[in-house]
Amino acid sequence: MSAAPIPFARPWVTDEDRAAVDRVLRGHILTHGPECTGFEDDFAAFLGPGAHCVSVSSCMAALHLAYLCLGVGPGDEVVVPAQTHVATAHAVELVGATPVFVDADPATGNVTAEAVAAAVGPRTRAVSVVHYLGIPCDMPGIVEVARGAGAYVVEDCALSIGARWDGVHTGLFGDVGCFSFYPVKHLTSGEGGMFVCRDPDLAARAARVRGFGIDRTHTERSAPGVYDVTMLGLNYRMSELQAALGRSQVARAGQVLARRAENSSVVANALSDLDHVRLIDAAGGAAAQSHYCAGLVLEGPLASRRDAVAARINALGVGTSVYYPHPVPRLTWYRERYGDAGDRFPVATELSDSSISLPVGPHLEPGDAERVGAAVCTAVREALA
Ligand SMILES: Cc1ncc(COP(=O)(O)O)c(C=O)c1O
Repeated sequence: MSAAPIPFARPWVTDEDRAAVDRVLRGHILTHGPECTGFEDDFAAFLGPGAHCVSVSSCMAALHLAYLCLGVGPGDEVVVPAQTHVATAHAVELVGATPVFVDADPATGNVTAEAVAAAVGPRTRAVSVVHYLGIPCDMPGIVEVARGAGAYVVEDCALSIGARWDGVHTGLFGDVGCFSFYPVKHLTSGEGGMFVCRDPDLAARAARVRGFGIDRTHTERSAPGVYDVTMLGLNYRMSELQAALGRSQVARAGQVLARRAENSSVVANALSDLDHVRLIDAAGGAAAQSHYCAGLVLEGPLASRRDAVAARINALGVGTSVYYPHPVPRLTWYRERYGDAGDRFPVATELSDSSISLPVGPHLEPGDAERVGAAVCTAVREALA
């Protein structure tokens, strides 16, 4: 058993990853080249049949591209989970649409089809979901509600690489799925993201908007340096260095996911006898989650003591985090724009104020998952004594 502190997360980078990046540096193509298209193809193969992938600079970029390419804009409303990373909501704001927040289900941390149905109205143009901590939302139910309202569906899959519903990968249910390769995610490219959809025309449009709206790639140009611009665009491209790293990482996604699942089950077993806590978990049945972290919610007498319990876990050598520190409507930008949310999002508030995210990543050494469980048991029992 290692005695070194266990960080909440740490990118798992191997010699193969380093060699892949080095090969790019020894060549002469550093951006939008064969590694990017190779990563897009490899990630599409990992996701499963029907996926079209467009590599981008971040998940935030993918989310922004989603609304730009679907034509969502001023006057439109988009349903947004209250409990998510601010990127999910910022993408809506950036195109001038208005987020309509919905609360989470206390068991999974996800929005439900019922909550979405209660939030849609005549101006709803899109429904966004986040697969909280890698637990898949009830996508068939949510897509049915959205389609009934004539709305698009955008899936924020930043934490859900490997999460499936009925065997279908998250990101393939809605119109667009947006993935993140930020360093603490399941797979990393340093920074990076993937725009995923089933519609090849939408993928082609996203690829154009990603690169300034230029109408043809280097290989499609009849004369070098000559092109036209047919639409507004951005520079949301991924570099070849990032793509090479991402490609090397996706090749061992199965191993990463198996280690996460194993660590999660050790931590969950260790906590099973504790009072006044619950673990956020998949609803079971069709849902296969990707174990981004173990989401521990403190209840009853512990609910108001999250920071002290987390500090004690940290003192015992186990790193923690909080996903997410505020319901989005409580963040200053949103509060000042849309007013105090009051007590309209009790579950998102509970998750923000009373939960602790525990490490289960592949950086854990043998025996570390047991140490995570033991540290939490000690901290919780001391707090209850
Ligand atoms: C749910 C969710 N969406 C989006 C993001 C943003 O991802 P990126 O840093 O790749 O833009 C995050 C980052 O943690 C996230 O948790």
